[in-house]
Amino acid sequence: MNIASIEFETKSKKGRRKPHNIFFIMFCVRVLWHMVPMTVLVLLGSPHKNGYTAQLLEQCLSALPSSVHVDVINAFEAGIKPCTDCGYCKSKSGCKFNDFDEIDRLLRAADALIIASPIYNLSFPAPLKAVFDRTQQYYNARFSRGIKPVIQKPKKAAMLLTCGSNEEGEAELIRSQLKMMFTIMNTTLTAEAIWRGTDSDRERFKAQTFAQARMAAKLIM
Ligand SMILES: Cc1cc2nc3c(=O)[nH]c(=O)nc-3n(C[C@H](O)[C@H](O)[C@H](O)COP(=O)(O)O)c2cc1C
Repeated sequence: MNIASIEFETKSKKGRRKPHNIFFIMFCVRVLWHMVPMTVLVLLGSPHKNGYTAQLLEQCLSALPSSVHVDVINAFEAGIKPCTDCGYCKSKSGCKFNDFDEIDRLLRAADALIIASPIYNLSFPAPLKAVFDRTQQYYNARFSRGIKPVIQKPKKAAMLLTCGSNEEGEAELIRSQLKMMFTIMNTTLTAEAIWRGTDSDRERFKAQTFAQARMAAKLIM
């Protein structure tokens, strides 16, 4: 029985549609909506396949519902060109370089975002910084071309970082950079896990940080 035939059967004798029909259709839409798998985009900034960042990310991904589809972009493999501030995106949509197109497509489609990266000199490793600098096209879409929102689908994001030092505060610059970029990406930073002391003190912080990474998976859903 399809929706059309249900509508037909639930019409009153006078041919008017009964009000509960609307609710039934809304119920069907809701059920169908939940059948579409959620997608998470991971932007990974570590050159080490089994490094500390990869381990932290693994904890987070293991706590996602099994139905979630995950795309991982490793910035060290993606080879995204740095932004050259050419001004293209001030008057046109996209970028004059097409190497960011796939990330743009995945970003727009994603329901949630995970940034997983080691800290390099208090910031992102250069290949991941290049990825973030290319989001300047969203900034210019918003402020030069008046598009709002630039990215339609709102999403929550988690920040998973590792750093050699066991000092607190190593992640402050990255947190500020992400929050600023997310304001034009319709994205909210809702969770974080920072594995400090990976150079020498990693076991001391490991269990607690892994638990935070698993919790982050829940907080972005
Ligand atoms: C170029 C470079 C810069 C780094 N800068 C910092 C830093 O500013 N603060 C810090 O705590 N650790 C720093 N580290 C250490 C890394 O953040 C740390 O080893 C990290 O856990 C490596 O993660 P991975 O195994 O996923 O690559 C730096 C490492 C490199 C290679």
